[in-house]
Amino acid sequence: MLKEQINLKKLPRHIAIIMDGNGRWAKGQGKFRIFGHQNGVISVREVAEGCAELGVECLTLYAFSTENWSRPKHEVSALMSLLVKTIRTETKTLMDNGIKLDAIGDRNMLPKDCISELDEAMEITKANKRMTLILALSYSAKWDIVNATKQIAAKAKNNEISVEDIDETMINNTLTTYKYPHPELMVRTSGEQRISNFLLWEIAYSELYFTDVLWPDFRKEDLYKAIIDFQNRERRFGKTSEQLSEIKK
Ligand code: FPP
Repeated sequence: MLKEQINLKKLPRHIAIIMDGNGRWAKGQGKFRIFGHQNGVISVREVAEGCAELGVECLTLYAFSTENWSRPKHEVSALMSLLVKTIRTETKTLMDNGIKLDAIGDRNMLPKDCISELDEAMEITKANKRMTLILALSYSAKWDIVNATKQIAAKAKNNEISVEDIDETMINNTLTTYKYPHPELMVRTSGEQRISNFLLWEIAYSELYFTDVLWPDFRKEDLYKAIIDFQNRERRFGKTSEQLSEIKK
């Protein structure tokens, strides 16, 4: 059993996933792309449950990027409807698993029903402590960094801070991801090896894991494989192997 090979004491606190390959999965079966997104919801449920069962604290899923707005109109509206429906129907799964829901991204871009569904699910799940599921919606890392820069510049202009006060901590605390530890592990499915504007600042020291599995086929076993791979890596944070073994002694 793969699950038993996982060292629960060395779990990543935060896993981020680029859920890719829904369209190809559907096309491979002669179906419309949205069929792939619909089946992707099953993988979302599996992975959220899998992470919560293990004790991962945060899971961030790239559900809709800023760039996804330029997809054909019918796909965008089908994805938004799917999101609204999924958030509504899966609130029970979130409650059953003690999962709190949160979202990052430019929420003003989202349709009204999506914002109200999200707000409702976030309110219902807010006291859950086992894990936080963070949906990246209308999100891109460059958008977040530009947004944070504007806020910091406005503070400097109003003399609330001086330019010398600007440091990594301030930038960190101004990004929409400020509440969460940075992901130790980032996974991308479908064989593509790109970051696609996801959490650029936060993945400075993340381990990257790429798998050929298409997102609608991704199951708990695939999650376990990614975590085992992560646990077999040496995370040096710029130090040498020798320095690390000194620290461990
Ligand atoms: C990428 O596959 C996937 C998306 C843009 C959407 C992901 C959305 C879901 C899995 C559904 C709902 C999610 C939640 C969190 C409720 P792609 O369309 O780029 O696939 P392709 O590269 O094969 O074309």
